[in-house]
Amino acid sequence: MARSISKRLLLPFILLLFRSTATADDTCIDCFTQSRAAYYPNSDQQGTETGACEYGQFGATLNGGDVSAASKLYRNGVGCGACYQVRCTDAAHCSNNGVTIVITDSGASDNTDFILSQRAFTKMGQNADAGASLMSRGAVGVEYRRVSCSYPSRNITFRMDQSSNNPYYFAFQIWYQQGNKDVTAVQLCETENLTCKILERSHGAVWATASPPRGPLSVRMLLSGGDDGDESWVVPPNDIPEDWTAGSAYDSGIQVQ
Ligand SMILES: *[C@@H]1O[C@H](CO)[C@@H](O)[C@H](O)[C@H]1NC(C)=O
Ligand SMILES: *[C@@H]1O[C@H](CO)[C@@H](O)[C@H](O)[C@H]1NC(C)=O
Repeated sequence: MARSISKRLLLPFILLLFRSTATADDTCIDCFTQSRAAYYPNSDQQGTETGACEYGQFGATLNGGDVSAASKLYRNGVGCGACYQVRCTDAAHCSNNGVTIVITDSGASDNTDFILSQRAFTKMGQNADAGASLMSRGAVGVEYRRVSCSYPSRNITFRMDQSSNNPYYFAFQIWYQQGNKDVTAVQLCETENLTCKILERSHGAVWATASPPRGPLSVRMLLSGGDDGDESWVVPPNDIPEDWTAGSAYDSGIQVQ
């Protein structure tokens, strides 16, 4: 009896607490959003090498192959490389933690926000049997939230796109971006006179400019979003060398949170 009374008193109090934190800050940072998820129909366990982010094979195997296509969360390529915790909602089969995936492609099917790699989709199950049972349904109800990407042994890496052609066309992707912020602008600066050029997001995760500056190049990234909402420029210690080539990867020497 005493126990049920104290529960009754406590519950409205807890609800009030939640409500006040939710209204104090308009965005509900750790809240899950209800949605649906399907999986890539091909037999490959990993993601696709032809994802819209244009990551190539990296987009299939990144994060151990726990990757996904996104529909509205793709955000015209801004969402490429963002990490989400996705968990299915059927308590009988689904694990509490679900799976953490990286967006590497754009796509939707059957009202989904995510088309997961089969590997990631199965991971939402409590065990292999539960995972197989989820697979047999094709698409399931999920809830998701943005989380920080974690690549503890990696610095942000600039991967020169295959379309690059020194010195006429400079195109690259940002690989291994940690944290939960978006790169919303990129400046390319030559390091002698510090003349800078704003780059365009050309398509997917690719930033590009025709007639880039000559010489070693410093890439500066504007980070926005995240919990505090503040924007900040990140200036990595390492430059891209003057003799950059298509397909090469250059270590920025920095990690971001
Ligand atoms: C820096 O400016 C000087 C003088 O205008 C010019 O000669 C030089 O080529 C510039 N360096 C680069 C890397 O653009
Ligand atoms: C990251 O960059 C730092 C220099 O800023 C370097 O010492 C370190 O070896 C780099 N880490 C990796 C994994 O490349």
